Amino acid sequence: MLTLRCVRKTRASLSYLPIFNTNITTSFFFISITTTTSSSESSTYPFLPPTPTIPTLHGISELQSKDVVLSFREWFKSRNNPVLDQIFEILGAQNGNDELSRQSTDLALSRLGLRLSEALVLEVLNYGKDVLSCLKFFDWVGRQHGFYHTRVTFIAIFKILSRAKLMSLILDFSEKYVKQRYIPRVGFYSTLVMGYAVAGKLEIALQLFGRMRFQGTDLDGLAYHVLLNALVEENCFDVVQIIAKQIAIHGFESEVTHSILMKSFCKQKQLDLAESFIRGLASSGQRLSGHILSPLVDALCKNNQFEKAGKLVEEFRESGMVHLEHAYSVWISDLVQAGKLDAALEFLQSKKSMEGYVPDVFRYNTLIWRLLRENRLEEVCDLLMELKENQICPDEVTLNAALCFFCKAGMVDIALELYNLRTEFSLSPSSMAYNYLINTLCGHGSVEEAYCVLNNSIHQGYFPGRKTFSILADALCREGRLDKIMELVILALEKNFIPSDSIYDKFISTLCRARRVEDGYLIHGQLNRLDKVASKNTYFNLISGFNKSSRGDIAARLLIEMQEKGHSPTRKLFRAVICCLCDMENPEKQFIKLLEMQLSRHEPDCQIYNFFIDGAGHAKRPELAREVYEMMGRSGIFPNLSSDILMLQSYLKSEKISDALNFFDDLSKRRKLGRKLYNTMIVGLCKAKRSDIAWEILQKMRENELKPSLECYEQLVKSLCSNKKYDMVFNLIDDLMKVGRHVSSFIGNVLLFHSLKTRELYKAWLRSRDVHNVTSFSLTLDELIFAFSHHIRANQDIEDLEEVIERCFPLDIYTYNMLLRKLSISRMDHACELFNRTFEAKRWVEEMFRKGFDPMKCTKQFI
Ligand SMILES: *[C@@H]1O[C@H](CO)[C@@H](O)[C@H](O)[C@H]1NC(C)=O
Ligand SMILES: *[C@@H]1O[C@H](CO)[C@@H](O)[C@H](O)[C@H]1NC(C)=O
Ligand SMILES: *[C@@H]1O[C@H](CO)[C@@H](O)[C@H](O)[C@H]1NC(C)=O
Ligand SMILES: *[C@@H]1O[C@H](CO)[C@@H](O)[C@H](O)[C@H]1NC(C)=O
Ligand SMILES: *[C@@H]1O[C@H](CO)[C@@H](O)[C@H](O)[C@H]1NC(C)=O
Repeated sequence: MLTLRCVRKTRASLSYLPIFNTNITTSFFFISITTTTSSSESSTYPFLPPTPTIPTLHGISELQSKDVVLSFREWFKSRNNPVLDQIFEILGAQNGNDELSRQSTDLALSRLGLRLSEALVLEVLNYGKDVLSCLKFFDWVGRQHGFYHTRVTFIAIFKILSRAKLMSLILDFSEKYVKQRYIPRVGFYSTLVMGYAVAGKLEIALQLFGRMRFQGTDLDGLAYHVLLNALVEENCFDVVQIIAKQIAIHGFESEVTHSILMKSFCKQKQLDLAESFIRGLASSGQRLSGHILSPLVDALCKNNQFEKAGKLVEEFRESGMVHLEHAYSVWISDLVQAGKLDAALEFLQSKKSMEGYVPDVFRYNTLIWRLLRENRLEEVCDLLMELKENQICPDEVTLNAALCFFCKAGMVDIALELYNLRTEFSLSPSSMAYNYLINTLCGHGSVEEAYCVLNNSIHQGYFPGRKTFSILADALCREGRLDKIMELVILALEKNFIPSDSIYDKFISTLCRARRVEDGYLIHGQLNRLDKVASKNTYFNLISGFNKSSRGDIAARLLIEMQEKGHSPTRKLFRAVICCLCDMENPEKQFIKLLEMQLSRHEPDCQIYNFFIDGAGHAKRPELAREVYEMMGRSGIFPNLSSDILMLQSYLKSEKISDALNFFDDLSKRRKLGRKLYNTMIVGLCKAKRSDIAWEILQKMRENELKPSLECYEQLVKSLCSNKKYDMVFNLIDDLMKVGRHVSSFIGNVLLFHSLKTRELYKAWLRSRDVHNVTSFSLTLDELIFAFSHHIRANQDIEDLEEVIERCFPLDIYTYNMLLRKLSISRMDHACELFNRTFEAKRWVEEMFRKGFDPMKCTKQFI
């Protein structure tokens, strides 16, 4: 037979477990597999390869992991009781409430040929899976000939009902049973009083009790104690004393009474009174039980008097108290709750070795869960093994803890196998176990399995936590499992689970990216129906998606919808929608319709008109832009500077140069032209390949003592170079220095690029050098342009060249590209060296990509 034992090995961090980012340090987890038949032979296998990467079971053989599964499976199965399973299968099978299904349940139960006894009923109720099945069974047993429910069975079902907080059901139940009178051994009124007491309806219980006394009957001992306990639970301490006195008078006083009274003192925080009460009992020679001590231990701990509680436990142990385990259990639970795990473990170990104390499974469970929470995995493992070796029957909580443990310890394969065997040992995983499984599976890239587990959990009635849902959603998006995404959303919506904005957004953008914008829109529609307001980003993704598939009409509808939901669209979004509309049939009509809708939404202002001018400009429809511009004036809104700039750009973008010039001219009549309008004009003209006019405008600008922007110089240099007007380029550069600007990387790169292509540039430079003053800048520029237009001098070292450039302008990745090109033409070995060093440069490219620049696109701009 195989046994498993945990062996503590080296200390290392388990924090790399992907889901549980914790910085708690725990041991590596090892399990030794030993055969009990030959105890001298024992071997240790690491369950986790000691690499700080993804922990998987790949490091250990399948055989070992099979052994683990097998041994846990045997243990888990030990909780099975075939007869009880059969009973609950029958009870669970018929969900109908009608007579027919009741009859078939009855028949099936009768066929089992059970020998009904109080003990059997209690066993079934304790084994109980769900309240309804227990109730059905209780009902069925009550109706069987020759069997009568006893106080004990009755109290057992009450407990189940009250634990499930089904108070109204308790009352229905009591009344029904009283009516049917098939519980002759429990008094008529007593039953009712107990029912009301357990259900917390103390006033009615007391009234009934009063009526009984008036009629000369009385409660029995059980009912008295149920009533007393309920009074303490509901803090009716005045009445507690009266009922306690009645109990004493009737001679019902027992350990149970004392224990309830202790609870009463403790609830009232009368801890000294409680202590003297128990000491009084002890000195009067009463037999003391752990049940009486437990409430005091608990109260002391809750009051942070752990030391005193511990001393009391020891003191009473020495005095020969019975049922000490009960007090031990409470003590351990309190220590665990207060996070004093080491103390709890130490206490447990010492009691185990000295007194043979074996905690019940509940205590183990509390400890295991807390240790799991704190990632003390090797101790969890110790405890699980201890349970197993002591053949303590695990309950559902233990099973779930074991599943979570295997997930946390990186043995998700084992967890999954045990999960797949769940029907064998009637395990229904808790939501926590589902979450662990799904998270861990996703972390291991087993998205398919994770999805199946989730599907199963949903069909079991659990919906995963938001975090789990989002982890799975992320994994599905990452792997592009679009169908699964749709399925997941539909499942979620069916269960009224509304994913968080970020998930929702991620799904929709994944779908849009995969050109499945219609599916994205479908999800969006579903959520809309649930009054869920999509984020601005979601709208952006949808609109962009429809823009891509040229559905301007839907894009426009979404734009309006998002405004209705309180988002204000950006200019970029308006632009996308307008561009898209302008690509459809009847663009003018569509455009005006959207504009009118927008204008009717609120007081028209400059901004909305500007958005439309901008949009029309980008759609290359300057006439539409102009119409909006005119409309503005007519409706009494004076176009501001932005309107003018956008209008001007609209003309320039469509290369309507004379319109642009006329407009510029008109503007100059209306207002003093500022820097921004000039800059717009110059840049726009350069882009429209009209460097000649741009040059003139720049001169005019300088005459008006305005300083052109760097972009003006850059675009003009580029445009002039393209038109081979190199002399003008150097005049322009001279002017750039005069206004106090520096040669930018862009300009430097353009110059290098063109000197690589032609020596004309160098010749122009020589001519201009004679005209302009020779400065240190021009000396280095000289060297540079020469180097690029000619062969590199033999002694010219590559570092030199780099240094020379650095003196002129800051190098960027394109400069390096250019250098590489130059060198590969002339000196292959230098190119190699540079290439080696461009690894440095590679870092920049990545950096640029990260910031959203596209180097390829940028390189193109020099051409
Ligand atoms: C989800 O579970 C249901 C019910 O168990 C099953 O019918 C369905 O096929 C499952 N779907 C997937 C994708 O596993
Ligand atoms: C809209 O579509 C056009 C053409 O496909 C594209 O160039 C533009 O970038 C898109 N705009 C947005 C905001 O997606
Ligand atoms: C023009 O008006 C819009 C809307 O009020 C405003 O956002 C923009 O900044 C204005 N432009 C200038 C240059 O003042
Ligand atoms: C050259 O520099 C000198 C002294 O700085 C100055 O006097 C002269 O005008 C400059 N010549 C030109 C053409 O800019
Ligand atoms: C480039 O680097 C490689 C490896 O680092 C080296 O072997 C090679 O000699 C280097 N080339 C030059 C030209 O420096």
